[in-house]
Amino acid sequence: MGMLDGRVSVITGSGRGIGREFALSMAREGAKVVVNDVGVALDGRGTDEDPAANTCKEIEALGGEAVPSYDSVTEFDAAERIIGTAVDAFGKIDILVNNAGIVRDRTLVKMDESDFDSVIAVHLKGSFNCARHAAPIMKDRKTNRQVVHVLHAAVSVTGGVQPGTLAAALAGRAASARGRGKGARSRVARATTPRAAGSGRDHRKPDGISGGQLGPAR
Ligand SMILES: NC(=O)c1ccc[n+]([C@@H]2O[C@H](COP(=O)([O-])OP(=O)(O)OC[C@H]3O[C@@H](n4cnc5c(N)ncnc54)[C@H](O)[C@@H]3O)[C@@H](O)[C@H]2O)c1
Repeated sequence: MGMLDGRVSVITGSGRGIGREFALSMAREGAKVVVNDVGVALDGRGTDEDPAANTCKEIEALGGEAVPSYDSVTEFDAAERIIGTAVDAFGKIDILVNNAGIVRDRTLVKMDESDFDSVIAVHLKGSFNCARHAAPIMKDRKTNRQVVHVLHAAVSVTGGVQPGTLAAALAGRAASARGRGKGARSRVARATTPRAAGSGRDHRKPDGISGGQLGPAR
């Protein structure tokens, strides 16, 4: 029996990287998973890849259940559809992992307004959008409701060593995790391995959270 048997998890940005590792780990523990990913390049601009479908295939190969979701976390109505995918496919949502992210890290003098807006839209507003739509559904369930916010290891609510807009966006994500919002318990998961310089995406496992913390289904 897995630690997450009977539970339903929505993981944003889980076609690749840390989100994909969350999806595979949770599926191995028995969770049914909504793999949300718009399939964009590192800077948030479009590609023809279909990472959400690929992660679903990997989960099915493990004997698990997963459905893809292609909506962007940045749009309030689209986030409602992301959460609705879990309810339509699996009847509920127990866990939301706010993981989707992009990188536009530039020095202040090189960063333009659209870079700033895009990073805030994905990391911060996207986290709010998904949590806002998940909370009313989770609120009706009295136990084991979790919103997990994926952060950089160095980010805290008071800032961090990582420079620029991404640090601000992730600090905002951390602050929202500390807020006493009703509907679900919030947790943070800190990713500890830095992106390999110049090599684009690397594939590391999330740190700082375990199935034991999430608990079995009730
Ligand atoms: N890579 C690192 O060193 C590192 C360290 C700590 C924290 N983080 C954070 O962890 C999270 C995941 O990072 P990663 O390195 O695995 O990134 P990644 O680029 O490998 O994966 C992020 C995924 O999010 C998806 N995505 C982007 N915008 C989206 C949107 N609007 N809606 C839905 N999906 C969207 C992308 O298509 C991509 O597949 C991010 O929030 C990032 O800030 C990364």
